[in-house]
Amino acid sequence: EEEWAAGIAGLTRAGQMSTGGRQEVVLLSDVLGVSMAVVGANHPAAGGATESTVLGPFFVDGAPEVENGADLGAGAPGRPCLMRGRVLGAGGAPVAGAAIDVWQADEAGMYDVQYAGLEAPRGRGRLHADRDGRFWFWSVLPVAYPIPTDGPAGDVLRAGGREAMRPAHVHFRVQADGFETLTTHVFVAGDPHLGSDAVFGVKRSLIAPFTAHEPGRTPDGREMDRPYHSMEYDLVLAPVQR
Ligand code: BEZ
Ligand code: FE
Repeated sequence: EEEWAAGIAGLTRAGQMSTGGRQEVVLLSDVLGVSMAVVGANHPAAGGATESTVLGPFFVDGAPEVENGADLGAGAPGRPCLMRGRVLGAGGAPVAGAAIDVWQADEAGMYDVQYAGLEAPRGRGRLHADRDGRFWFWSVLPVAYPIPTDGPAGDVLRAGGREAMRPAHVHFRVQADGFETLTTHVFVAGDPHLGSDAVFGVKRSLIAPFTAHEPGRTPDGREMDRPYHSMEYDLVLAPVQR
C-alpha cells in the first residue's frame, strides 16, 4: 500500500508540474523506458532503414526554413560543426526534396527554447534534401546534457542510482511523400554517457564519429579561421506501410 501511495503521489505531482513548456509526464515515461518501448513497437528496424529514437520535449513544429549550407548555430556557444549526409530510400536511391527538421542543444547543454528572451530560433531549422538527396548545414558540436531532475522523473533516476545525462546528440525528423516519417538522433561517438542514457534512446547504429579539423578550407568550400568538427550520416527512409 505504501508503494501504491508513493506511485499515485508521483503521478499526481507529475501532472501538476506539467505546463505547455514543461511536460513532466512525458519525461517520466522517458526515464521509465516506456517512450522507447513505444518507439520500438511502432518503428521496428526494417530493411536497412535508419533506426528511430525518442522525439524528446524540445522539438518545435514550424521551425524556420533554411538553405543547405546555412549556419544554424550562429551566435550559439560552441565549436563549429559541419553536418552533412544524404536522405535515401531503403534501396539506396536519393529522396530529393525530403524535409529535414534538425534541432540540438548548444555547448551549455541548452536548447534555444530553454533560454528566456532569445529573439530567434537557434540550433534548429528545417532544410530540404537537394536533387541528389544531399543535405548539409553548420551548427555547433553537440555536448552531453542533463535532463531536468526537479520532479518525479528525477526521483526515479535517484531511486535507481541512475545518471540524468543524455549523451551528446543532434535530433532529426525526416518527412517525404511515400515514406514513413523518421524521428531519430545521431549520437557523438566516444561520449562517456552512451551506455547510460537517462531515456534509453541510444542505438548502436545511430552513433557516428564527429571528426576534428584544423583551420582551413572546409568540405563545403568555406575558409575556417578556427578549428571545427564535421560529421557525415545518411538518413535512410522506410517505404510507407499500407
Ligand atoms: C532530448 O533529447 O531532447 C530529450 C529526450 C527525452 C527527455 C529529455 C530530453
Ligand atoms: Fe536532445
